[in-house]
Amino acid sequence: MKVKELLFRPSKVSLRDRTCLLAHLLRVNHKELYLMEDLEVPPQVEESYLKELKRVEEGYPLQYVLGEWDFYGRSFQVEEGVLIPRPETELLVEEALKRLPERGKLLGLELGVGTGCISISLLLHRKNLRMVAGDISLKALRLAKRNAKKHRVYDRFFLFCGDLFQPLKPKGFDFIISNPPYIPQDLWNSLPEGLRLEGYNSLIAGMKGWEFYERISLELRNYLKEGGFFVFEIGHDQGERVKGIFEGLGYSSEVLKDLQGQDRVVVGWRY
Ligand SMILES: C[S@@+](CC[C@H](N)C(=O)[O-])C[C@H]1O[C@@H](n2cnc3c(N)ncnc32)[C@H](O)[C@@H]1O
Repeated sequence: MKVKELLFRPSKVSLRDRTCLLAHLLRVNHKELYLMEDLEVPPQVEESYLKELKRVEEGYPLQYVLGEWDFYGRSFQVEEGVLIPRPETELLVEEALKRLPERGKLLGLELGVGTGCISISLLLHRKNLRMVAGDISLKALRLAKRNAKKHRVYDRFFLFCGDLFQPLKPKGFDFIISNPPYIPQDLWNSLPEGLRLEGYNSLIAGMKGWEFYERISLELRNYLKEGGFFVFEIGHDQGERVKGIFEGLGYSSEVLKDLQGQDRVVVGWRY
């Protein structure tokens, strides 16, 4: 079958995702595939395509089939059990970069590094930055290390395993960034199976959903230097709650919305 015949078979998977899948199996860039419409697809590739497409139609994340996904203009390796980078998280990177000068040494801390997409994107855009980043998941840390090596920033990236700040000594970071788990635990069973493959610890906070912000807020003073800032991703309905947690402890903060107009980021300062 030709590329165009295979791609245009009806499916509930979007054309963009079908193109990414076929391009991945043909080992070409998905943008090049549009120029190969009349190419005859080898039978074994056609068979794999139809098999994988069926899995994706049934809810298996395309990103895990591909083994990589784009974030802030770069490709990051992904694997089951580790959160797939989301486009809305790019807002965290943008907000941090707005506040990070291009000169002078900078030291940042990320809590819950996952694939490393946030820290690595920051490191790629600020040569004067070093990042310390932790996660409770060894699988995530191994993946973050691979991604940092792939993007050649591993010499400025210091990974640790632990529960939030737990293994760190008090230190004055210039900023702290995090996309912590923020889904309440009673929603776990109702999440789609494909989403649950990203891991309970990647997604679920606790009974309320905002437990990680409470825990982080109590320790922030020991790790954020005066004049330093923090940027945290939040759930679409958590803006006022999370702002209140930080303002209650004397930090100034504001809630920023994503392109859909939903609460997405809390940014604040220690004066
Ligand atoms: C929502 S994911 C974010 C991953 C990545 N930063 C991103 O934005 O794609 C949250 C991450 O926090 C980690 N995590 C969960 N509980 C943690 C804890 N108590 N201490 C440190 N990391 C934790 C998870 O393993 C997961 O990698």
